[in-house]
Amino acid sequence: MAVYLVCAIAALAGLLFGFDTGIISGALLFIEKGFTLTTVMKELIVSSVLLGAMAGSLCSGQLTDRYGRKPVILIISSLFIIGTLIASLAPNVQTILIGRLCIGIAIGIGSYTAPLYIAEVAPLELRGGLVSFNQLAITIGIMCSYFINYLFTNTEASWRWMFLIGIIPAVLLFFGMFFLPESPRWLVKQKKLGQAKETLRYLRANGNVDHELSSIEKSLSVHQASFSEIMAPWIRPVLFLGIMLGFLQQVTGINTIIYYAPTIFQMTGFQDTSTSILATVGIGIVNVLATIFAVVFLDKLGRRVLLLTGLVGMFFSLAILSLAFQWNSDSLRWIAVLCTFTYVICFAFSLGAMLWLLASEIFPLNVRGIAMSIAIFSGWLWNFVVSATFLSLLNSLGPANTFMVYAVMCVIGFIFCYYKVPETKGVSLEAIEANIRRGLPLREIGQPIFTPELASENIIN
Ligand code: BGC
Repeated sequence: MAVYLVCAIAALAGLLFGFDTGIISGALLFIEKGFTLTTVMKELIVSSVLLGAMAGSLCSGQLTDRYGRKPVILIISSLFIIGTLIASLAPNVQTILIGRLCIGIAIGIGSYTAPLYIAEVAPLELRGGLVSFNQLAITIGIMCSYFINYLFTNTEASWRWMFLIGIIPAVLLFFGMFFLPESPRWLVKQKKLGQAKETLRYLRANGNVDHELSSIEKSLSVHQASFSEIMAPWIRPVLFLGIMLGFLQQVTGINTIIYYAPTIFQMTGFQDTSTSILATVGIGIVNVLATIFAVVFLDKLGRRVLLLTGLVGMFFSLAILSLAFQWNSDSLRWIAVLCTFTYVICFAFSLGAMLWLLASEIFPLNVRGIAMSIAIFSGWLWNFVVSATFLSLLNSLGPANTFMVYAVMCVIGFIFCYYKVPETKGVSLEAIEANIRRGLPLREIGQPIFTPELASENIIN
């Protein structure tokens, strides 16, 4: 029971990730009314969070290793609180940017630390589900932000309230985390065995934790690679796969919808702000529902089927959206709503869930920390590039061509995933690592192998 509570509190970091990235979609429309904004200024307001997140994700590995998971999560919740206060009370656009940058740093560090902490306190048999739970928390955060956008649409200085509500989960995370234990794995690494044992006893109701403690000790005896070792020829292909997944998750355009949906809806003919924000609430809801579907079916249907089907659906949604803008018919706005809905659904059960899951599965143990943070950094980098250029692309290429660019990216994504993404369903992390060491092509590293030592482990995960 305790472990569920611990994970739910840590997942508030994922919720804040979703909330603080999603809230800008509606807030932007009102900031625009309060200050005169150029296109570049608008793009900066959206992407300042992402700049911060890039910086945060880069230093997250070192921070959590040196100071421990718990103090780092306490620090990021304080940063969330400070950044939210700065942004919501800001007298000018520059101050909004500083506040959002602060929030971004917290998001970037949290996007690595929270899933890591969850994975380290969770028992083995729950680990996979709890990793996907983090993605679910992100989408719930996005959905809440859209509701808040809608609720405060007609309020005076509405964007300030929209930002300010984010302080509630941040305060909950701070106080909740205060009472949570440090990760037992980190404690063992610091040679604080007594404390680690006590924490494990608290987390596992059954009391017998000696076996788990010794397996943590055993896994920590694996030599941890340095930054240069990560470029070793046998690791390079999986590192490339992780970087490509981060790249594809973003260049197929998800955050043009997540951050700019009301702006897009207004372009298609929805006149008033509140209707376009209401349509965006719908996007938030289907995003959560499709993520729940992914969490339930990832292990039954397999990663590849969901990934490839999702990419096909994303391609058709974007291509039809692009054609609808080209024809500019009366029904454009309804086609736009339908296409964005199907697009978000297809993303949620494919690339959305897959980056975080595969990043936690494909990397060998001795490079897992560094490699995961590189893959996550790649996601933030490309997120920044796409979000910081979307409005400019709309202005220069027009909506039809802009969405066609993202549609083409889906085709490239499909071809890449078809040839390179392995099926990791039902295979242990140890078997995946053994396959990488044997030099199998990427697509085959998820093959179960039946050596006497590994045969028993192929059933887990
Ligand atoms: C992505 C975010 C995106 C969200 C949408 C996450 O997996 O990393 O960039 O906004 O999914 O649900």
